[in-house]
Amino acid sequence: MKRPALTLFLLLGTIFGLRATTSPIPRESPSAQRGSVATVNPIATQAGLDALRAGGNAVDAAIACALTLGVVDGHNSGIGGGCFMTLRLADGRLLTLDGRETAPTGATRDMFLREGKADSKLSQDGALAVGIPGELATLAYASTNFGRLPLAQLLEAAAKVAEIGFPIDSHYASRVRATRNELAAFPDARTIFLRALPTVPAKGDLLKQPDLAKSYRALATQGVDWFYRGDFARRTAVWMQANGGLVTAADFARYEVVPREPVRGTYRGYELVSFPPPSSGGVHIVEILNLLEGFDLRAMGDTSADFVHTVAEAMKLAFADRAKWLGDPDFTKVPTGLISKSYAAGLAKGIRPDRATTVAGAGTPPFADADFFRREQSRHTTHFSTADAEGNWVACTASLNTSFGSKVVVPGTGILLNNHMDDFSAQPGVPNYFGLVGAKANAIAAGKRPLSSMSPTLVLKDGKPILSVGAAGGPTIISQTLLAILRTVDFGKSPREALAGARLHHQWKPDELHVEAAFGDAVIAELRKRGHQVVIEKSLGAAQAVGLAPDGGFVGTADPRNEGSAAGF
Ligand code: DON
Repeated sequence: MKRPALTLFLLLGTIFGLRATTSPIPRESPSAQRGSVATVNPIATQAGLDALRAGGNAVDAAIACALTLGVVDGHNSGIGGGCFMTLRLADGRLLTLDGRETAPTGATRDMFLREGKADSKLSQDGALAVGIPGELATLAYASTNFGRLPLAQLLEAAAKVAEIGFPIDSHYASRVRATRNELAAFPDARTIFLRALPTVPAKGDLLKQPDLAKSYRALATQGVDWFYRGDFARRTAVWMQANGGLVTAADFARYEVVPREPVRGTYRGYELVSFPPPSSGGVHIVEILNLLEGFDLRAMGDTSADFVHTVAEAMKLAFADRAKWLGDPDFTKVPTGLISKSYAAGLAKGIRPDRATTVAGAGTPPFADADFFRREQSRHTTHFSTADAEGNWVACTASLNTSFGSKVVVPGTGILLNNHMDDFSAQPGVPNYFGLVGAKANAIAAGKRPLSSMSPTLVLKDGKPILSVGAAGGPTIISQTLLAILRTVDFGKSPREALAGARLHHQWKPDELHVEAAFGDAVIAELRKRGHQVVIEKSLGAAQAVGLAPDGGFVGTADPRNEGSAAGF
């Protein structure tokens, strides 16, 4: 597959649910005292709510959401993919669980080069695109250590949805239509997503996934070893060997979820708790907030050209750093100086109010050769948030990468495998699916985790969580999450308003400023006058959040651009 330009990716809404909908789904829950759940799909939101009502906590609710999203939103995420989870536990502990996929042991730096050139078809579809999945290991770890309900109970509830079937939403239908040719190349994917649905699928068509139901039940009865050390690992290895893949059963057995110290930062008296490397999300959200702290954004107003310009200039600087410095911290040295206030203060001096600057490349953060994010210091996609009255808060982003991941369904299991190998930098300076460039820090190596933008983030005030937020949409995840935080902190908006506000995105390369049309013609004209290459988007992204309401209850909110929902009780 030829890599679509970033513009095309955004315009087609290839990954997000960008389709307007008129259904009366509650996008925002009224303030709820016991807990709240927000996801991109009402059936998954209901599963999270059911878990809370059954006596589970926010962690159980998040696990229920993840397992159900793997059924009803399976083109975006599932147990064949990975996830990042940021938690604040009732006892005040803050931690992150890294369930990112790992490159198989047989992976090599140049594995996607053919005649010296990166072949994106290989990193996006089929056997070589697949990293060892980490979502299930993460959910099991969270369940064992922090949950209250048996994982088997949550698996069985999701298995029922897979068995009985569910009406696909308009986004799901559009994803199947757009990915038809690629899915057709893989027999089980063809049977499940093409034969079982009408030739031109539409919102409301019923999709049943009996194999997936069986797999969830095998997990419920045999435990997670069925996946990592048992039948599933063996079947995957057999398929891989027959189809030119590298993934082995030993790779599955070796997989481990990595608990990591969150990235911490402060912004105007609020505390940020976000995801560390191998995500770039936390580092760059904190870096951009540091860069913006010296600007009076509130005085600018969040719909002005000054606001868009200033935020975009800060994004450019951070994304230039991302391309050089960021990668799996177990393999590459990611300097902690990237999140220092002094580094940002220096860089911010280069931001001119009147015109777009050219950012030549990455900066040099302090202690760039001495102090790094480390393991012991301690990436299509979906984000969901949960919280409960005991004080547990969860922000979780889960992904197969692009729609239907690698398109490979392991025969007989209904489980779709990710294509997260495409998030590595296949060749220095050569953009991946999302137009992101990288270098040595994100080169492929055996057992390494590809760099991500997934940014499950908690915002705290006086030690107490006030917001759980994150998004789907490749690198725009960072921008969406950042904007939600700015609108909460600088503009005092409710979670709903914070997600509804117009969005912008700049990732340094390509040098394009993507803005939602909602900013209006005058703002867009002014941005062009300042030298920005403006690309207008109808709609950009998919974020979900749970926040604290003024009455002390929880308000969940699903992105008004999409078909998600929020609920609490
Ligand atoms: O980890 C990452 O940054 C990407 N693989 C996430 C992909 C994504 O968000 C697709 N979009 N909805």
